[in-house]
Amino acid sequence: MRYTLRVWRQTGPDARGRLVEYAVDGVTPDMSFLELLDVLNERLLLDGDEPVAFDHDCREGICGMCGLVIDGVAHGPEKATTTCQLHMRHFDPAVPIVVEPWRAAPFPVVRDLVVDRSALDRVIEAGGYISAPAGAAPDAHAVPVPKPAADTAFDAAACIGCGACVAACPNGSAMLFTAAKVTHLGLLPQGQPERHSRAADMLRTQDELGFGGCTQTGACTAVCPKGIPLDTIARLNHDVLAAALRSPR
Ligand code: SF4
Ligand code: FES
Repeated sequence: MRYTLRVWRQTGPDARGRLVEYAVDGVTPDMSFLELLDVLNERLLLDGDEPVAFDHDCREGICGMCGLVIDGVAHGPEKATTTCQLHMRHFDPAVPIVVEPWRAAPFPVVRDLVVDRSALDRVIEAGGYISAPAGAAPDAHAVPVPKPAADTAFDAAACIGCGACVAACPNGSAMLFTAAKVTHLGLLPQGQPERHSRAADMLRTQDELGFGGCTQTGACTAVCPKGIPLDTIARLNHDVLAAALRSPR
């Protein structure tokens, strides 16, 4: 099959970008979207042109490195998937596909489809840790954890930090990401010492980095490849409020 791509090309952070149209031949329905870009890049290299820069690593939906806005949707049209797990059978060859980088002020474009998502690392640094001695692996079983808390914490830990929630949010908010980290650590006994300060510190850092606030549009959870639900944000707000009530006035 032959597909037409309109790909965002931008030589650097301060360069002016534009959509460039390419025809890509030899595409099969079972190719992933990143394999489509591989085919395009092989052709560009053979022609002596610059390949399209894009991020990827595991290509198995677990590392969070990949992430493209495809036809206006973060990670493309297929629900609950990463860009690397998206396959060409979901696209009509007769319709051009528009491929852009994440669009959010805290994620500046580095080149073409690559953005700098290190702002998410700064949010993690602000509170994504525990101070309780966790011991060796067998010690983990010595701390009883209620099953509902363990299940919810485990589900939240599925967040891969891809940033699709930020790219999809009309406010450029990272609330779903931060709420996933706060939920992952704050529900477990080992995460209790910093539970409320963690939420407050991560939220403050997120604000300082230029992420927007949450107005509950739900755009984040609609594109999240790991199905992090919107009520996770309610848990974050609860812990931030608890931190405010506990802090000395
Ligand atoms: S909450 Fe979902 S969309 Fe946001 S960074 Fe985590 S996995 Fe990606
Ligand atoms: S390349 Fe790792 S999640 Fe897509």
